[in-house]
Amino acid sequence: MASSVYELENLLERRAAWSRLGLTVGLVPTMGALHAGHLSLIGKAKAVADRVVVSIYINPKQFAPGEDQESYPRDAENDCAQALAAGADLVWLCPPDSIYPKDWATSVIPSGVGLGLESNHRPHFFTGVATVVARLFALLKPQFAVFGEKDFQQLKVVEQLNRDLCFGVTIIAAPLVRGVDCLALSSRNRNLSSEQRERALAVPRSLQVACSAYAEGERSTQVLCQLGRSVLSDSGIAVDYFELVKSSDLQPAPRELSGDDTDLRLMVAALCGTVRLIDNCALDTPPCP
Ligand code: PAJ
Repeated sequence: MASSVYELENLLERRAAWSRLGLTVGLVPTMGALHAGHLSLIGKAKAVADRVVVSIYINPKQFAPGEDQESYPRDAENDCAQALAAGADLVWLCPPDSIYPKDWATSVIPSGVGLGLESNHRPHFFTGVATVVARLFALLKPQFAVFGEKDFQQLKVVEQLNRDLCFGVTIIAAPLVRGVDCLALSSRNRNLSSEQRERALAVPRSLQVACSAYAEGERSTQVLCQLGRSVLSDSGIAVDYFELVKSSDLQPAPRELSGDDTDLRLMVAALCGTVRLIDNCALDTPPCP
């Protein structure tokens, strides 16, 4: 029966019952304020796993002091209804103590794909993400877990963590879901004023402009990135980064492209007012229709 739980013991009881029946479990970790992007992940999990658990936990370890942990949108009741309607079997509303016990003293510190980009601006971030994901995997022992390409670097970090720590979870990547106006769906979009939301459209547009220039023959990485950054600054949006990287390892793209660049990805992070937005796309696949 589909339902929600707060207590870790209840979660583990349900998990054990599924194991006894030989059912596989897919986990969709979230921080709540669910939108169609999250729901698409639930659909992906449903397609491969017998039972789907959606965890909702605003993980304090991935926020630095002064970041938006306090103002992060919260909507538990609506989240449960949406997740269950999308096919989740269990929504795990994690109270803080159910994730980290009082004497918790371990951190998972990703290197490799966890360095650069986000880490240059939020150095604490991937340690927080990797620590909570490791804990969720260890507690629930899912066979599958779904992560969105919206957070492309996070997806890479989780894949690495899963390999390095031998969790044996099959990690499934879900495509980035956009609104009709092309803005990447994000829980943080709820904190944009209508004026800011209008301005935020410069984020997908910056990717679009760089992709179009590439399609028209521009092969200088520096020029492509500068075009994207200009779209943002012209709209009054502060750029944290706008970079072209190799999708496989997130290393910088060559300075001059060859025209045969199937593995390249534009990565952007920018501040619209105080709301931080991230987005990305493959260089040969413009984000907007
Ligand atoms: P959250 O931002 O809630 O995102 C949960 C999952 O939904 C992530 O895998 C994210 O990539 C995916 N997602 C968010 N917006 C999406 C969109 N527009 N299209 C497709 N997928 C999207 O990411 C986190 O939470 C946390 O860092 C977490 C992994 C839960 C660890 O605390």
